[in-house]
Amino acid sequence: MKLLINVSNREKNCYKILSEIRNDNDYVFSLSDNKIKPCNGCSDCKKGLVKYCSINDDMQELYKQMSKYEKIVIATPIYMNFLCGQLKILIDRLRSHSMNPELLKNKNLYLIITGMLSEEENKEVIDMITKYFESLTEFMEFNFHYVGYLSSGNSEEIDAIEKNNTNYKEIVENMKNEI
Ligand SMILES: Cc1cc2nc3c(=O)[nH]c(=O)nc-3n(C[C@H](O)[C@H](O)[C@H](O)COP(=O)(O)O)c2cc1C
Repeated sequence: MKLLINVSNREKNCYKILSEIRNDNDYVFSLSDNKIKPCNGCSDCKKGLVKYCSINDDMQELYKQMSKYEKIVIATPIYMNFLCGQLKILIDRLRSHSMNPELLKNKNLYLIITGMLSEEENKEVIDMITKYFESLTEFMEFNFHYVGYLSSGNSEEIDAIEKNNTNYKEIVENMKNEI
């Protein structure tokens, strides 16, 4: 059983990849249907005034879902040579992780990245993103697994990512087996 998180604000490439690797008992949380506000820096979570966060938005549902699953899969698009802002906002909202080990501690977090450019062209960006996640493991204490990258190419068509990768089915099947 896995929690699959689409951090794109639309149900397109990231959502499609997650739909392919989804099993019957998995739960998909999509930021296209859920809005998560940025951390306001109130520190109520650090002061122990609230369990997870004082902001009452859709992140409260995500805390609930994260608590239930040992495997968490995140699919992110690259935006402006880094992970997309929605994912950074989501990570910032996990500041209460140390008081709430059920969220992430010792869990397996899998990352899938998509971008318009080829894997080769995005090599440095992918390295930066994976290094960033590795740095988070030092204090958030999850096990990080980089699953892979898929290029969506220039097209905005609904099936662009499938059309742009001749061995698309094989790649997503391998991703599925890895998780
Ligand atoms: C604001 C914005 C910035 C982007 N920046 C990049 C980029 O720097 N490099 C890249 O390869 N793709 C970039 N893209 C393309 C997306 O990463 C790509 O289309 C991705 O597959 C979108 O995933 P989604 O359909 O799940 O939203 C950008 C797209 C947007 C909307």
